[in-house]
Amino acid sequence: MFELARTGSGSRLLLKLEQYNPTGSCKVRMAREMILAAEREGKLRPGGHIVEPTSGNTGTGLALMAIERGYRFTAVVDDHASRDKLRAMRAMGVDLVFVESKGEGPSTLERRRVAGEIARASGAFWPDQHHNPNNNLGYVGLAAELLRDLGTDIDYLVGAVGTGGTVCGTIKELRRLGSRVTSIGVEPTGSIIFGGPPGKYWQTGSGAPGGFTVGSNVDHSLIDEGVTVDDIDAFTAARIVARRTGILVGGTAGAAIHVALKQLALIEPNSTMVVLVCDAGEKYLDSIYNDDWLRERHLLNEAAHQRLHRLFDAYRDSVQLASQAKAAVFAQ
Ligand SMILES: Cc1ncc(COP(=O)(O)O)c(C=O)c1O
Repeated sequence: MFELARTGSGSRLLLKLEQYNPTGSCKVRMAREMILAAEREGKLRPGGHIVEPTSGNTGTGLALMAIERGYRFTAVVDDHASRDKLRAMRAMGVDLVFVESKGEGPSTLERRRVAGEIARASGAFWPDQHHNPNNNLGYVGLAAELLRDLGTDIDYLVGAVGTGGTVCGTIKELRRLGSRVTSIGVEPTGSIIFGGPPGKYWQTGSGAPGGFTVGSNVDHSLIDEGVTVDDIDAFTAARIVARRTGILVGGTAGAAIHVALKQLALIEPNSTMVVLVCDAGEKYLDSIYNDDWLRERHLLNEAAHQRLHRLFDAYRDSVQLASQAKAAVFAQ
């Protein structure tokens, strides 16, 4: 865990850096759980075949499980995915089946249709991450790690929502362990999970496009607040974190960090806020860390960069002012 910001009133914003898992993402946790459950339930037999539509992180997680346990894996993907995730899956021996991405959004519906067809025609096992309860159960260990590493309760947990597994799975287990955490789910502006109008977005992994039926792993009863963040704010936050800390996080983590930084000043003193960082920024060097890629999509915004720098500076100054005020009181 890494402390990204602190307030003069004693609140802390910590990042849970899930990119240090094998495959550079939290999603290896759920891939493992889904495959082990399928083996237990007899849905996967030695030498079997797995098929899953993916934006890449579930795909590399399943690729690792396939290597480890001797399966063939077909990933149904589109060009909305980061090129590095596609290259990584190919490097791990995954069969990639491409569906056309219609311009500037993920082809979530089409990817599912094709995966279903492959599963029906070949008898391959389709874990179906949007509906498989073992996705959410994959984060039981993450909840326990958070409480153990912090040694205190978490007051706010902020995370990006796609299938819902990461946030809902972690929150459910935290509450089972007695936590009184408030959960904040984040999706791209243009995604429809929290009821907003559909539109284009470039954040990959989180969100659901217009026309998609949100799966059962998004449990709204576990998400206290649902927030949308546009691509400029999401990518700017990731880029500023890289410049100020040297840690590269993915674009959906940038969105969650943007929300957390805005809320940190408003929460009760001495609170602990945690952002789940789903994946590594190294997967996005060609996109969100590439000025040309951003400029082509009108997503490079210097004013947004400056605004966020000022917010970080304000937190730093608030800590200094608080300690100066304390010193002045003691000097009376
Ligand atoms: C980069 C990234 N962020 C966020 C998410 C959303 O996680 P979940 O599907 O568990 O809601 C994913 C899922 O693939 C992802 O790859």
